[in-house]
Amino acid sequence: MFTKMQLTQYTTLYRIGKPFKTGAVIVDLENKDFQQNDTIPYFQVEEKDNKINFIYNMSKEDVVYGLGETLGALNKRGKIYRFYNTDDPEHTPEKMSLYGSHPFMILDGKSTFGLFIDYPSEIIFDIGFTDKDILKITVPSKDFDLYIFDSDEKLSIIKEYFNLTGKPYIPPKWAFGFQQSRWSYFSEEEVRNVAKKFRETGIPCDVIYTDIDYMDSYKVFTINKEKFPNYEGMVKDLKEIGIKVIPILDPGVKIEKGYEMYEEGKDKGFFCVDENGNDFVAAVWPGATHFPNFLNSEVRRWWGKKYKLFTDMGIKGFWNDMNEPSIFYTPKGLDNLFELLKDLEENKENAGIEVFLARETLLNIANNPEDYRSFFHKLDDGSLINHDKVHNLYGFNMTKATADELKELNPNERYLLLSRSSYPGLHRIASIWMGDNKSWWEHMLVNIRMLQSLNMMGFFYTGADIGGFGADSSAELVIRWMELGAFTPFYRNHTALNTRPQEPWQFDEESLNIMRDIVRLRYAFIPYTYSEYMNSVKESVPFVKPLSFVFEGDRVKDIEDQYMYGDSLMVAPVHEQNKKGRYVHLPDVKWLNWTACKYGERNMKVYEPGDYYIQAYLNEIPLFIKENSLIVLSEPMNYVGEKDITELTVIGLVSDHAIYNYYDDDGTTYNFTKGEFGNLKIDITKVGKDFKIDVKPYDPANILKIKKIHFEIYDSDGSVIKKDMTL
Ligand code: GLC
Repeated sequence: MFTKMQLTQYTTLYRIGKPFKTGAVIVDLENKDFQQNDTIPYFQVEEKDNKINFIYNMSKEDVVYGLGETLGALNKRGKIYRFYNTDDPEHTPEKMSLYGSHPFMILDGKSTFGLFIDYPSEIIFDIGFTDKDILKITVPSKDFDLYIFDSDEKLSIIKEYFNLTGKPYIPPKWAFGFQQSRWSYFSEEEVRNVAKKFRETGIPCDVIYTDIDYMDSYKVFTINKEKFPNYEGMVKDLKEIGIKVIPILDPGVKIEKGYEMYEEGKDKGFFCVDENGNDFVAAVWPGATHFPNFLNSEVRRWWGKKYKLFTDMGIKGFWNDMNEPSIFYTPKGLDNLFELLKDLEENKENAGIEVFLARETLLNIANNPEDYRSFFHKLDDGSLINHDKVHNLYGFNMTKATADELKELNPNERYLLLSRSSYPGLHRIASIWMGDNKSWWEHMLVNIRMLQSLNMMGFFYTGADIGGFGADSSAELVIRWMELGAFTPFYRNHTALNTRPQEPWQFDEESLNIMRDIVRLRYAFIPYTYSEYMNSVKESVPFVKPLSFVFEGDRVKDIEDQYMYGDSLMVAPVHEQNKKGRYVHLPDVKWLNWTACKYGERNMKVYEPGDYYIQAYLNEIPLFIKENSLIVLSEPMNYVGEKDITELTVIGLVSDHAIYNYYDDDGTTYNFTKGEFGNLKIDITKVGKDFKIDVKPYDPANILKIKKIHFEIYDSDGSVIKKDMTL
């Protein structure tokens, strides 16, 4: 039934039928020789009701990793996951689908292997839910590609996956700064005030978002001139103080006579069509809209060119939302509802089940599967394809339209680009945030787990809405989440309409002071974060890793709420209410613990491997530096690049020998690919009670401005030696 092609020593492609070209894979598969093949390693294959099932008997010790943006534990066993991109703002534990589809998993245990299914519509992974020992993957199609990665090493499986689908996206360096958002800042004045408040309170900030209310009646590529009389002036003024403005963009084009996007799209036949060939109608924020047919390259070019409205203002970041695509209702769905309501009215004396049905119909009117089956895309070759068959590619192609145009406009300039919906491959050109979470403590844990799973998919630059999107947040929750977010690459506080404001100054003075310290700590860590991020992309190793990807043994497999942030630092966020500390597992080596949240205050302690209760008051986050590794800090700034970094502080626990490969570049261009970057190879060896320090710079393009390095090197007994070095 399958054909087979060996792509590398570890990666084999098994193909059935004629798969749709999704764009996930960068390896050229055209005109290659496929061999006939009937079996798939590890799996029993079963064909039933036009579906193909892959069945694997799991052993007790098997752990399943991956699957990206999914709910539940880091070990994916015990749940069903359905890949069909869905706008669902209720991230409750039983939910099977979210905004992105990432059908790449690693099974680690009795056997170890990876699997990726490149198929852009529904796929179900039942991982020991129906039967606790059975992994069953169901693909309701006979046209798809399945890749098996045959290696015992989880990290080399991921490396193979990146070789196949491409390396992670690299944002500009300022994207590692703090970002503030709210649905919505309703006016230019409000945005300017938020910016001012950051500078007045001394809380570093690099980005402010404008959500849907900057638009005129939610019409994409327009600006509400009444509320934002001088959007461009606002962008320029904020830039002066180091704050970049990022607008949100939604795909649905409002049906309105005379509106340029609507008229052009209609005239050119750029919208998705229904079964009669008419432009398909679905409602989103602006009411009735048409969906641009992003699966067509001409449409993508047209759409991409429209970002000029913003790039002309100097905007370098974009936020593509609602691109699953989200459907609030279709006229047909609304008619059904009205019919039920009419029945209800007619029988109101005696209404029973009718009320229940009307409520269910209302609840299911959004993102209805029937609606996704009722529109079509015209592809580049002129053929029509039903949307349902390529559903998971819509947001990817919208974001491709943006990225392609940004690259064409300024080929050598990096951009910050977020998409809500995603598919493998999007990680090369942009990234995603975790969507509409809630101000719940439970969602901090979701954030921590998803961060690790998304990094395995190549979505390194990711994070959740800090403080929670839906529902009101307490000061304590925002503070703890700001602490966690300080150690996620994408660091944005965002909240929904009608929720309690949660900018750092919205609570009490003490909370404000704590949050200032946290954000400043984040900025102190930027040299380390950026250096590790760039090295991770270069080495094709996840930037954030579970402990079980670094340490051996069964114990670490159960640790899901601590993670490696880069190679040297382990983060153990406090994610429970009213806690003044938490239990931490410290595997294998010695660890240097730092629980203060203030950059300048360091109260370090050395721990032997083991399990400990670590105290961490509200203003503290438990951080641990791995034995024989180093972190690199600088003085915090108001925004990334405000000043040259002239001094670095290097901290570590060196019981033997540590090497740190510090990396930096201009932070905004791709010149690093031409060798224009700076490196400091910092080499520290323990000699008796002292340390020998050696620093080798590589800086042909004159990137590094560092004049002085402060060393703070700890010995296993907790004693410290401080030394300064002038470069
Ligand atoms: C969606 C987005 C959210 C945004 C809102 C309004 O719910 O996920 O982040 O604030 O739409 O645009």
